[in-house]
Amino acid sequence: MILNSIKQKLLPKYKKRNWPGLINAYKSYLPVSNKTPIITLKEGNTPLIFSENLSNLIGNNTKVYLKYDGLNPTGSFKDRGMTMAISKAKEEGCEAVICASTGNTSASAAAYASRGGLKSFVLIPDGYVAQGKLAQALMYGAEVLSIKGNFDDALEIVQKLSKEYPITLVNSVNPYRIEGQKTAAFEIMDDLKTSPDWLCIPMGNAGNITAYWKGFNEYYKKNKKYKLPKMMGFQSSGSAPLVDNIIVKNPETIATAIRIGNPVNREKAKIVKKESKGDFQSVTDNEIIDAYKILAKEGIFCEPASAASVAGLIKNKNRIKKDSLIVCVLTGNGLKDPECAIKNNDAIFQKNIEPSLKNISKILGY
Ligand code: F0G
Repeated sequence: MILNSIKQKLLPKYKKRNWPGLINAYKSYLPVSNKTPIITLKEGNTPLIFSENLSNLIGNNTKVYLKYDGLNPTGSFKDRGMTMAISKAKEEGCEAVICASTGNTSASAAAYASRGGLKSFVLIPDGYVAQGKLAQALMYGAEVLSIKGNFDDALEIVQKLSKEYPITLVNSVNPYRIEGQKTAAFEIMDDLKTSPDWLCIPMGNAGNITAYWKGFNEYYKKNKKYKLPKMMGFQSSGSAPLVDNIIVKNPETIATAIRIGNPVNREKAKIVKKESKGDFQSVTDNEIIDAYKILAKEGIFCEPASAASVAGLIKNKNRIKKDSLIVCVLTGNGLKDPECAIKNNDAIFQKNIEPSLKNISKILGY
């Protein structure tokens, strides 16, 4: 009886099953019309998870939340941009899309292109794309070209191809990508009913930090209660062109998703840093792996590039003011890169065990 009345009170508030996908949810903020065919896999509406471990680690009554965008349909934040880019490509009558990718963009482009009945071509750097991402691009039906070069080389080629041939480019130079991705900032503000003091985010090509900043600004313009956060962008120290303000010819990092030496949104990122009074810093691969493990100890498995946001937060522990509210963006799911997880964990994993009750109870210490 009591349980029933609790259920009745709680259910309407927690009824999120009817989420229509982010274009339908935030239509009034997006450049779509009734004529736009909405290609959706119900992306968005990802959880904002309070991190007890990180809040305690930072101390000073700081509250740390994780925007777990690895729970999108293809396992990364790219789906937010891709639902927009593919819907608009379809509206404009395009038949094929192309992208360069360190893996996630290709997975997402392939999925949404297939769903929309479009052909997709993807160029990836040979040997530097995590297995899960490659598996996705192949399964979703993209034509995959693995090139003997890095992401920056691939991006240069696809930009030229899309100018010469009737193929739509769906990298983050496509403005619709940024439009879709800004909805993550809306969701954070909808959940918190305010804005964070800091947003910690990994940067590769710097499309996502640009998109978040646009989102925060659009809500702020409507209602000043949504403050503007400091945008804290993090790169891996072997691949930090935005931190060092250079072009990195041969970027190297365990976080292959952000192994980018010449970000295409460089100028936009500089504006975000300046306007938000934020900061760009680098974190080492070891710091990334430490953060990756800390998150997993709280049940959250993200890919290494995503852990850069948390590594960056930890690095700034002493700069954080009392009572701060911080959101770290976890851009991709840990399952994308199983190899990295299997190589970098502190688990006890014993092999070739005799399957007898006696033996196993002995090993378990009983
Ligand atoms: N995190 C993950 C998991 C990514 O896949 C990327 C970019 C980023 C962060 C950085 O985002 O480029 O907007 O600054 N991945 C691209 C790709 C480059 O091809 O999948 P950004």
